[in-house]
Amino acid sequence: MKYGHFDDVHQEYVITTPKTPLPWINYLGCNEFFSLISNTCGGYTFYKDAKLLRLTRYRYNNVPADINGKYLYIKDGDTVWNPGWQPTKTELDSYECRHGIGYSRFTSSKNGVKASVLSFVPLNDNCEISQLTLTNGSSEDKKLSVFSYVEWCLWNADDDMKNFQRNLSTGEVEVQDSTIYHKTEYRERRNHYAIYSVNTKIDGFDTSRDAFLGAYRGADSPEAVENGKCTNSMASGWSPIASHQINVDLAAGETKTFIFVLGYIENPEDEKWESYGVINKTRAKEMLAKYQTDAQVEEAFAALQAYWKQLLARYTVDSADEKVNRMVNTWNQYQCMVTFNMSRSASYYESGIGRGMGFRDSCQDLLGFVHLIPDRARERIIDIASTQFQDGSAYHQYQPLTKKGNSDIGSGFNDDPLWLIAGTSAYVRETGDTSILTQMVPFDNDMSVAAPLMDHLKRSLDYIINHKGPHNLPLIGRADWNDCLNLNCFSAHPGESFQTFGPSEGPVAESVFIAGMFVKYGEEYAQLCELMGDADEAARARKEVQAMYDAILKDGWDGDWFVRAYDAYSHKVGSKECREGQIYIEPQGFCVLAGVGVKEGLAEKALNSVKERLDTKYGVMILQPAYTEYHLELGEVSSYPPGYKENAGIFCHNNPWVSIAETVLGRGDRAFEIYRKTCPAYIEDISEIHRTEPYVYSQMVAGKDAKFYGEAKNSWLTGTAAWTFVNISQYILGVYPTHQGLSVDPCIPKGFGDFSITRKFREGTYHIQVKNPQNVEKGVVSMTVDGKAVDGHIIPYEKGKEEYNVVITMG
Ligand code: BGC
Ligand code: NOJ
Repeated sequence: MKYGHFDDVHQEYVITTPKTPLPWINYLGCNEFFSLISNTCGGYTFYKDAKLLRLTRYRYNNVPADINGKYLYIKDGDTVWNPGWQPTKTELDSYECRHGIGYSRFTSSKNGVKASVLSFVPLNDNCEISQLTLTNGSSEDKKLSVFSYVEWCLWNADDDMKNFQRNLSTGEVEVQDSTIYHKTEYRERRNHYAIYSVNTKIDGFDTSRDAFLGAYRGADSPEAVENGKCTNSMASGWSPIASHQINVDLAAGETKTFIFVLGYIENPEDEKWESYGVINKTRAKEMLAKYQTDAQVEEAFAALQAYWKQLLARYTVDSADEKVNRMVNTWNQYQCMVTFNMSRSASYYESGIGRGMGFRDSCQDLLGFVHLIPDRARERIIDIASTQFQDGSAYHQYQPLTKKGNSDIGSGFNDDPLWLIAGTSAYVRETGDTSILTQMVPFDNDMSVAAPLMDHLKRSLDYIINHKGPHNLPLIGRADWNDCLNLNCFSAHPGESFQTFGPSEGPVAESVFIAGMFVKYGEEYAQLCELMGDADEAARARKEVQAMYDAILKDGWDGDWFVRAYDAYSHKVGSKECREGQIYIEPQGFCVLAGVGVKEGLAEKALNSVKERLDTKYGVMILQPAYTEYHLELGEVSSYPPGYKENAGIFCHNNPWVSIAETVLGRGDRAFEIYRKTCPAYIEDISEIHRTEPYVYSQMVAGKDAKFYGEAKNSWLTGTAAWTFVNISQYILGVYPTHQGLSVDPCIPKGFGDFSITRKFREGTYHIQVKNPQNVEKGVVSMTVDGKAVDGHIIPYEKGKEEYNVVITMG
C-alpha cells in the first residue's frame, strides 16, 4: 500500500494523506541553518548545532506524535484548520504534501478556501521562509483570520528540557511592527537572537504560550484562535512563543499571499547591543528586507532549485530501470547531502542532543558526498582529523559548533582510525588535490602538536599495526563498526560502571572486520604514499597488508565464511562453533570487497553462505541465528530482542558491502538483487509494512525473527545512504574515480540493457555510453574516448579538458 507517489519530473515525493504510518519528513537547509519538517508541518529549526543553538522546541516521545512545528491556523467562521492537518486535525477537503529537494510544499483546502504553503531555507541566509498563498475558491466573500505559531527553544536544547528552575525565568521577547524577537539569554554573553516576522501589518500577536493556548490547552485548540483574537501578550519567563494574527478579507476568486520568515541573527561582538540589553536589530532588518515580496521569494526559491539542479547533475544515469534512475539521480544523492550535513545528530529518531558528528560516521558519509561539493568534504576531513589523538586513535564524536571531541564518549572504537584513510582517499581520488595531504592538522585540536594530514593517516594505520591481539588480528577495543559488539565487556550503557579484564587477561578481543578494513584501506594508503613519492612507505604498508591478509586466512576463516571476531577469552564470535550468532555479515562483505580470499576461492564460498543463511526478501540480515539469550561476553548485540537492530536485524548499512563484494566476483544479478531489496523506490508498494519514508533509506529493517518483520526504523541518518550510492554509482553502474582517471567497469544484472551516465569529474564532464550486446554481467571488451580506442577501462585524465565522450562495450 502507498501513501503517495514519486513525481520524477519535479523530483518530489507527493504524500496524499496526512495519516502516514510515521511522520514522513524532509530537511530544509544546505549550509548552516536547518529545519526538519514533517508531512504535517511538525519539526524544528536550529543553527549549526541541534543541541547548542536550537531555535524552536520539539517534543520527542510525545503523545500524540510529532507535536510542535511551524503551524499556521486558518479561522473561517467557526472552522479552524491547518494546511498540514496538524495540530487541529480538522478533516480537510483536500490535502497534499510535496517533499522536494530542500523544500516542502503543502496544498490543502477546506470549505472553498485553498491554502498552499511553500517552505524552504534560502541559499545564503540563516532563515526559513514560509510563503502562504490563500485562494478563495468559493462563490462568497470570506473574512478569515490567519494565526502563525512557533514555540521558542531557549537555545541549548538539552538544558531546555531539564533545567526548569532557571529556564522558566529567563525568557524574553520584543515585538516591533510585525517582527517578534526572541532574545532569551541575550543579556549575558550571547550575541545571537531569533526572529519570526511576516511581511504585512498584523492585527495582533502573542508571545506567551499560556496566553495564546489558554490554560490546560494544547496547540490543537489554542484559545486565542478559538476567540479569533490574539491577546498581545508579552512573555516574561515561562515559555515564549511567536504568533501573528492577520485578518484577511478574501473576495470570491481572490488570492493573497503572506511571507513568514523565521531567522537566526548573530551580531559580532562590537554590535551586540544598542545599549545594554537592547538588541541591535540592524541585521534582522537587512535580512527581512530581502523577503518582502513574492518576486523576492520566487527569486530565492529559483536560486535554490538551480543550485540543486547543478549539484545533482554531477552524476546522472539514464537506464531502462526508472527506479534506478529515480534513486541515483535524485533521492540517494539528496540523502547523501543530508547525512553529510547532520551526521547522526538530528532526525526524528536522533534527538539532536545526543550524538553530534561521528568520526566513523562522518568519514563514511563523505564517500557519497565528495563528488557533490569536494571543498566541503575537504573542510570536513580536516575537522575530523583534528579530533585524532597522537597515537592515531580518535574521539568517537565531536560537537559541530565547537568542533571539539566529545570527552564523555571518548575514544576506543578501533575501526575509527581507518575510516579517516577511507574518506581522505576518496577525496584525493575525486579531486586530484594532494595539497590536503601536506596540510598541517592538529591533534586533539591543539595546533601546537600539528602534523601534515598524511602523517595523521600514517598514525591511523600504525594504530592498527600496534594494537593486534593473540591471532595477529586487530584489537577491537570498545567496539568496531558494530557498536554493539562489546567484546571486552565494557558496558554498552553510558553511565553504568563497566567491567574490564585484568591486564593479564586482556582486553584482547579481536576483529576480523577491522582486519578486512585494513586490507582495503591499507592499500588505499599505499597508493596515497606513491602519489606523494614515498615508495618506501608504500612498500611498508603493503607488507603489513599482506601480513593481515595472511592472518585473516589463517585464523579468520571458519570453513565456509569469515569469522567475525575473537572475544576477550579468545573464543570465536560468528563461527560454526557458536550456538547462536554463527555468521555475521560484516566480515563477509568487507573482506571480499577488499579482495581477501578471492583468488583462493574462499570469497565465493563466503558470499554463498551469506545468501544461504542471512538473506531474506527484505535484505540481508546482520547475523544468524539471532541471540535469544544475553551474553555478557558479547555485550549490547545480545540485548535486543531477536530480529531488531544489531541482533539479526537487516542493518541496511552493510547490505551494500555485500553487494559490492558480489561485483568484485562479477555476479551482477546477485549484486543488483541485494541493491533492490532495501532500495526505497522498490519497496514503496509495501509502505504499510515498511512504514518509514519511501524516498530515503532507514538504518534498519526488522529481520525474520522479529515480530514486525519488514518494518523499518531510524530513517534518514544512516551510512546506508553513502554506501548505497557508492555501490550503485561506482560498482554496479561502475564509474569509479581512481588517481589516474575515471574507471568504467559496470557489474549489472542480465537484462539491464544499455545505459548512459553523465558524470562531472574534476574539470571534465564525461558522457559515458555503456553497450552490452552480449548481455553479460561484467567485463569491458573495448572503450573509445572521443572516438579513439583506449586500452583498458580507465579514461585517462587530462588536466583542463572539459568534455569527454566515452563508449564502453561490455562483453
Ligand atoms: C545502538 C547502535 C548505535 C549506537 C550509537 C547503540 O545503542 O544500538 O545502533 O550505533 O548506540 O552510539
Ligand atoms: C549506528 C552508528 O551511527 C554507526 O556508527 C554504527 O556503525 C552502526 N550503528 C552499527 O552499530
